Amino acid sequence: MEVREVDPRDDAAVAEWFAVIDAWQRAGRPDEPGWLLHEQAAILRLGAEPDADERRVGLVAVEDGQVLAAARLDLPVADNTHLADVLLITHPGHRRRGAGRALLGEVERRAREAGRTTLTASSDEVPGEEGRSASRGFGPALGFQAMQAEVRRDIALPLDPAVVSGLAAVAAEYAADDDLRTWRDAVPEDLVEDQAHLFRRMSTDVPLADLDWREEVWDAARVRRDEQDVQAMGRTLFGAGAVHRPTGRMVAYTTMGVALAAPERAYQWDTLVLTEHRGHRLGTLVKLACLQRLADEVPEVRFISTWNAAENAPMIRVNDSLGAKVNGQLVNWQKRLP
Ligand SMILES: CC(C)(COP(=O)(O)OP(=O)(O)OC[C@H]1O[C@@H](n2cnc3c(N)ncnc32)[C@H](O)[C@@H]1OP(=O)(O)O)[C@@H](O)C(=O)NCCC(=O)NCCS
Repeated sequence: MEVREVDPRDDAAVAEWFAVIDAWQRAGRPDEPGWLLHEQAAILRLGAEPDADERRVGLVAVEDGQVLAAARLDLPVADNTHLADVLLITHPGHRRRGAGRALLGEVERRAREAGRTTLTASSDEVPGEEGRSASRGFGPALGFQAMQAEVRRDIALPLDPAVVSGLAAVAAEYAADDDLRTWRDAVPEDLVEDQAHLFRRMSTDVPLADLDWREEVWDAARVRRDEQDVQAMGRTLFGAGAVHRPTGRMVAYTTMGVALAAPERAYQWDTLVLTEHRGHRLGTLVKLACLQRLADEVPEVRFISTWNAAENAPMIRVNDSLGAKVNGQLVNWQKRLP
């Protein structure tokens, strides 16, 4: 078995690499668009640029001319330079032939060479498979520890207008000092510094179990690069923020994304309320405002998927109030590199 690097400018090689990821998606969640080829191609291409905030490389395990498994190794550059993250998939028709082990060996070699001491990975478990997926055999056999489960919930859109107005009326009483703002694709210029601060807080204020993620470094320029990357992937971003009137600072925000080529499903990205502003229903308010703008501008969206650490009770309460339904989970793995 041979392990090869994928040239991000070679469309055929990228398509072969992505075909493994897609075969896994079609087997596990056949009714969903999942990752699209042009999205993953953009992720590889952007990660190969000299000024990337995260360096990324695609790898394949090949036997007799056939691609058996695919991996993407991500190396943060701007912060968390002790970490490497891997997406690792063996084609469902070629499991238990050592392809996963072979690819992981090369991933670890490269991570160590880049000075990384911790390797992280995530695995999706579809409903009924929780705790029993192939990753539960593979991960521990190769030295990974399951650190955290993030339960996936789907919220059906559009929201029931009666639910929205009820929640908004209650929340508005709690949040009398805050103004709501929404945006699409780019946060308004007067909020970009606050957005950078909130991204920094988001990186460590969410429950992390014992995952060794450290604070990210954000400034306005990185916020803008991130927004451009979302567009380069063919996605559109929606954001909403709560601006605290007495100080003029944005103290809570949420972001959501939609693939323009497959708009029926949206993805909830971040939601954060600064610690000292919690308890004012700002999480509910920013989510409602963002979902409203999303529904107005991309009415094709039928669901939004969100992932919450099982221990994140306040966020789960907000999602449940919007009618969220559990739909599998994501397991976060970690391995110390010897
Ligand atoms: C997990 C995954 C990558 C394993 O790939 P693979 O190519 O089948 O794995 P390998 O053949 O290299 O297996 C290496 C070892 O892992 C363990 N293992 C792999 N799959 C297993 C399973 N289904 N049950 C129990 N143990 C398993 C075994 O110890 C195996 O060694 P052995 O075959 O000599 O007994 C593959 O099942 C997959 O793509 N799953 C979906 C995506 C995913 O979960 N990625 C991993 C995130 S940690």
